Amino acid sequence: MPLLLISDPDVVGILYLVAIVCFIVALRFLSSPKNARRGNWVGGVGMLVAVGTTLALDGIGNWGLIIAGGVIGGVIGLIGARTVKMTAMPQMVALFNGVGGGAAALIAFSEFHVAGGDVSGDEIVSIVLSSLIGAISFAGSMVAFAKLQELVSGRPIVFRGQNVFDGAILLGAIGLGIALVAGVQSQAALVALIVLALLFGVMFVLPIGGADMPVVISLLNAFTGLAASATGFVLDSTVLIVAGMLVGASGTLLTLKMAVAMNRSVTNVLFGAFGQVKTGPAGVREDDGRTARATTPDDVAVQLSFARKVVVVPGYGMAVAQAQHDVRQLAELLEERGVDVAYAIHPVAGRMPGHMNVLLAEANVPYDQLKEMDEINPEFPQTDVALVIGANDVTNPAARSDQSSPIYGMPILDVDKAASVIVMKRSMNPGFAGIDNELYLEPQTTMLFGDAKDSVVKLIGAVKAQ
Ligand code: TAP
Repeated sequence: MPLLLISDPDVVGILYLVAIVCFIVALRFLSSPKNARRGNWVGGVGMLVAVGTTLALDGIGNWGLIIAGGVIGGVIGLIGARTVKMTAMPQMVALFNGVGGGAAALIAFSEFHVAGGDVSGDEIVSIVLSSLIGAISFAGSMVAFAKLQELVSGRPIVFRGQNVFDGAILLGAIGLGIALVAGVQSQAALVALIVLALLFGVMFVLPIGGADMPVVISLLNAFTGLAASATGFVLDSTVLIVAGMLVGASGTLLTLKMAVAMNRSVTNVLFGAFGQVKTGPAGVREDDGRTARATTPDDVAVQLSFARKVVVVPGYGMAVAQAQHDVRQLAELLEERGVDVAYAIHPVAGRMPGHMNVLLAEANVPYDQLKEMDEINPEFPQTDVALVIGANDVTNPAARSDQSSPIYGMPILDVDKAASVIVMKRSMNPGFAGIDNELYLEPQTTMLFGDAKDSVVKLIGAVKAQ
């Protein structure tokens, strides 16, 4: 029995409205790193109100199962969230997102099963949509998780006739859906629809390269939102309909924003098999005779200490090396010496939206030092040293000048306009896009080779010794 029984529909409506307002306010706060933590809290409170109200409804069901499910899910979620590394966050999101899609499909199936297939016209439409979209999202998210966790190859997996094969699976699933909506009261048809949707989810994500996964996950996130919303119609739950729609809309917008920041269409991400063909073998540079110049921590320390303005450009390599705390320490040391330090944040630096903001915020870098691309780019010509830490594609001038480059047209950080550029990475290997970076051969550029964290620690020592 529930501890508190709510039977007045007005009270339920008001409580759900409170939850919905919390979700909307949470999304608003989440749009800036300054308020993101508060946004998470407000969203959490909204969820507590929504779940609490639902549990307090009359005739909720089997309390033993609900408590067991809540405890198991809660413990897994808590341990996962506490132990996950920042670089593994995309796969965690994929996993959680997939579970949401799977839950939507399972609820739809169980509603159909309990009613023995005898459901109203409206309800069967929602059940079909929820099963179809939820199962695609579940299977696709699991493949995305496996790719990011390197359980399967991150490379695009393609074969001849793939699009035709995928199209046939999807058409089959849609055909079954239409039959169900038309009145076929067959549980076998719904099971077959879910199996085809699962297969489509797998086939849809397999050809997409590992590093494009954040865009795919964001899209699958939108799918899960839509599936949850359809489930809201099945269960007659306003709060689920609205929450699902919010997830669907924000996931779609995020997908589009990421595609714009990479100057690629969503279709190119989904069907372009990006990263499949690499230009030239990694680490070997076929150039016009120019070579990259290596430097030492001591030389870099001198340049940094005597600079007026230093712009730090963090990228995926800084995240992998977990160098953010040492980077903040280095910046503080320089500031004590009167150097003006700022951080240049590219919208797709790293491997997930807001990756750099989150890492630097975690290292307590003041928000006002984080400069978005449009704000910092005009400042590079007045910058003495651009310190590029584990970033590559987001600094590649080929995006501005080389029409044949896969990243041509992608907005970049104009680090090459700084008086001096120091690039910290382990080798001459390319980044995610798999292409060489002309910046490394420019006369103002020097390379400080090594793991980003090791190099920054050495720099801290060298600056202190100045
Ligand atoms: P990348 O271009 O991938 O370059 C990262 C560089 O970090 C690599 O060249 C690598 O060089 C270096 N590195 C790796 N581990 C390191 C370590 N331990 N210490 C030092 N350096 C290390 O990264 P980026 O500049 O941040 O650009 C992001 C790329 O990801 C873009 O192409 C973007 O389109 C793509 N992408 C981003 C997103 C989002 S939402 N952020 C989503 C999808 C795709 P070495 O191997 O030589 O060390």
